[in-house]
Amino acid sequence: MSRCLIVVGLQWGDEGKGKVVDLLGAEADVVARYQGGANAGHTVVVSGRKVILHQIPSGILSPGVRCVIGPAVVLDPETLFDEVSELAAAGHEVTPARLAISRAANLVLPYHKALDRLRESAAGPGRIGTTGRGIGPAYEDMVGRRGVRASDLCDADRLRARLAVVLPERNALIRHLGGEALALDDLVDHLLPLGQSLAPFLADTGEVLDSALARGQRVLFESAQGTLLDVLHGTYPFVTSSLTTAMAAFPLSGIGCPSKVGVIGVMKAYTTRVGSGPFPTEDTGDFGRHLRTRGAEFGATTGRPRRCGALDLPALKYAVRVNGATQLAVMKLDVLGGLDRIPICTAYRVGGKTIEVVHPDRFFDPGLTPVFEEVPGWSEDLRGIRDVASLPDSARAYLQMVEEGLGIPVTLVSLGSDRAETVFRRDPWR
Ligand code: IMP
Repeated sequence: MSRCLIVVGLQWGDEGKGKVVDLLGAEADVVARYQGGANAGHTVVVSGRKVILHQIPSGILSPGVRCVIGPAVVLDPETLFDEVSELAAAGHEVTPARLAISRAANLVLPYHKALDRLRESAAGPGRIGTTGRGIGPAYEDMVGRRGVRASDLCDADRLRARLAVVLPERNALIRHLGGEALALDDLVDHLLPLGQSLAPFLADTGEVLDSALARGQRVLFESAQGTLLDVLHGTYPFVTSSLTTAMAAFPLSGIGCPSKVGVIGVMKAYTTRVGSGPFPTEDTGDFGRHLRTRGAEFGATTGRPRRCGALDLPALKYAVRVNGATQLAVMKLDVLGGLDRIPICTAYRVGGKTIEVVHPDRFFDPGLTPVFEEVPGWSEDLRGIRDVASLPDSARAYLQMVEEGLGIPVTLVSLGSDRAETVFRRDPWR
């Protein structure tokens, strides 16, 4: 039995990780976020009520589960407390006993958000299509050693001294891009009350995780975004600025690799992406419109319509390999209902050769073309189904094609947004 399970996205994010973490996190002792920031939008539906979590791990919705925000998450203290208030209104009290935040987490500050937006406007057609949440500029500051960290926020002198060092250069950049510089005093006055609210939550989160694992507790790591958005392994430069893959969980959280680890790769039954960048199986016709309408494919963070298209098995094979995924969660299978035929990309052709596992960098190759196969669809509504055997034959064949193509078992199938609309084929913790 795995004491440590990593939930990772195998596509361009929005795979449905929030639902998987909500379901599996209920059986965990600790749920930890290890990268990204408020660019994530994990949608969970509990008793018909929709909750969108941007920074706080979805495990917060399960009473008794301890949640962790690790040092490699870029933390936006302004929106963190909006999320705390929304959760309280939905009956989920967020106390320091429930949520530990790393002292070393770098902060997303107002000037990061300003820079993100100014850069995107200046980039014109070359824009990345970021979420505008300041993620890239905050990570640049982290590795550039210009970051302001969570612990700095809780001490007035330390905060002022740190900002006095880093703000002038950031302001010069803001002015260069046509924006308005921020005043040091205003920034300090604005941030200090947030520091007071944040202080009780700060901890050495590596120690929290390490001691939970040492006591034999179950720890679930929740990644954000997806493999194809990883800054190293994705469709660079149209990526986010963090390491999104599974095994990054340990170094980014400040712990060693536990002896037994399960990796559940979460994938939609089709493909979506928000923002710019290559998407070879994108469908701008009827199939894509079916997916967007029936799957309500609009961004949880920005509300932008998502680009939609066919399942991409060669890219998924790459993602399974990069993450060392051991099992699959197939989400939104119900959205494919009502189609006569469903296209699936099974290979790519380039330079007279067929490739079955595609590195995302090849998506920029002008000669690359996807090879599609069409499989039979189904007309039945799957939402009420609770076991795989009751699925229509063609839906079962679709799952089998995924399983055989990717070489690992599908342990969970999601047939709707509610917790109850899920079929487990095996306990993912086993
Ligand atoms: P950033 O992370 O805001 O810098 O955005 C970089 C790219 O990642 C853009 O294409 C965003 O649309 C995409 N992105 C960031 N976070 C998410 C997410 O949670 N789901 C899907 N796409 C995301």
